[in-house]
Amino acid sequence: MRVYFTAIGKSILAKAFQAVKGMNDCLPSDSPLWQYLEQTLRQVVASYGYSEIRMPVLESTQLFCRSIGEVTDIVEKEMYTFVDRGEDSLTLRPEGTASCVRAGIEHGLLYNQQQRLWYMGPMFRRERPQKGRYRQFYQFGAETFGLQGPDIDAELIALSARLWQELGFADQVELQLNSLGSNQARESYKQILVDYFQQNIDQLDEDSQRRLGSNPLRILDSKNPAMVELIAGAPKLQQHLDQESKDHFEQLCAKLDSLGISYVVNPTLVRGLDYYNRTVFEWVTSSLGAQGTICAGGRYDGLVEQLGGQSTPACGFAMGLERIVLMLEQVDNIQTKLSPQVDVYVCMLGELAEKEGFIFSEDLRSKLPEVRIQNHCGGGNFKKQLKRADKSGAQIALILGENEIKESKVALKFLRENKEQLLLSHEDLIATLNKVLSKYG
Ligand code: HAM
Repeated sequence: MRVYFTAIGKSILAKAFQAVKGMNDCLPSDSPLWQYLEQTLRQVVASYGYSEIRMPVLESTQLFCRSIGEVTDIVEKEMYTFVDRGEDSLTLRPEGTASCVRAGIEHGLLYNQQQRLWYMGPMFRRERPQKGRYRQFYQFGAETFGLQGPDIDAELIALSARLWQELGFADQVELQLNSLGSNQARESYKQILVDYFQQNIDQLDEDSQRRLGSNPLRILDSKNPAMVELIAGAPKLQQHLDQESKDHFEQLCAKLDSLGISYVVNPTLVRGLDYYNRTVFEWVTSSLGAQGTICAGGRYDGLVEQLGGQSTPACGFAMGLERIVLMLEQVDNIQTKLSPQVDVYVCMLGELAEKEGFIFSEDLRSKLPEVRIQNHCGGGNFKKQLKRADKSGAQIALILGENEIKESKVALKFLRENKEQLLLSHEDLIATLNKVLSKYG
């Protein structure tokens, strides 16, 4: 526990708590950008007919060991796992796919059905924090079930491509694609790979030597510059693909070509989770430094069966929202797309206005439910109230003084435009606010 007490004179001050390392607060100044992103995500998935699913953040530890794989970085070193009071081993979800499959099987959503699902929420991995990499981070994911052909792979990629377009940074990202083939083809390729690396074992770093026995495909994913040449010379999975997977990949590429979505085939792309087969893809950018993968996914046709369901083809992706927010911060004029938190600030001068003003603004909210109205609280003179109005970000201040109340009128002051103040009846006010605020969107 990090709290302790320091005695200063006679008073006792508690040392302030800090957030857990790698876990961030989203402050009021950050939230308009997050809200804009979340709204755009919801709107784009809805336009493809996907339905939302919400899963718990805690699952049984075995779910992740069995799906992501025992010999992966996530399961080996990054999970937040604990034994609860009932002696069950639980884990804070490091990703959403396993939970989504678990929920799908548990509630009978997958057997003999087609599903297009999405989720958004926090994930937890105990990684070394740096820009774009956190211990609690948010993912938006889409998962599809019961669809076998490359058309759904293409749909998921098109959906993500549309997002980058909507968000304004499509020119900053590149789509990388690969096929891992069928599970059988991959097993025989693994052996070929092991033989190759075995012959060059002195060039492998410690991590890769360990993976040689457990997960040799991950060696291809190594970022160690000393191994670049060795990896480039390794036998290519694509030359050992089964015919069906080859056809699947070719059809996917043709579909992307017809949609005008460009891509780079990256034969070393293998992904860090074990459940994939056939298509894998990543959207990468050079604008974020080391953590350049903003979205990643692929097919996982064996996972539903592996977790106890009927064999069901599946494909999906997930994107890291902090990384998308970092991309958005670099988009020109992004501020103009963000909604203000306050549109109208109501100033109340004097006792009568303070009393009537609250009734007035409740009535205004009922008539204009879309408009964000903030009341001035705590009294003070006109200058002070106007200063607050300005700080709130509102476009308009409504001013209620004793005279206005008595005459059933209200003064409207434009805070961001050089226009004359208006004195309006309550009816005229509604029409004027509708007209003026629609201009700001
Ligand atoms: P993943 O590659 O582990 O895949 O994560 C997907 C995305 O989440 C990454 O590309 C990245 O943008 C973001 N991400 C991952 N770790 C962190 C972190 N520590 N901090 C910030 N962002 C992070 C999966 O999770 C799979 N479930 C994707 C999937 C869905 N495959 C099929 N369906």
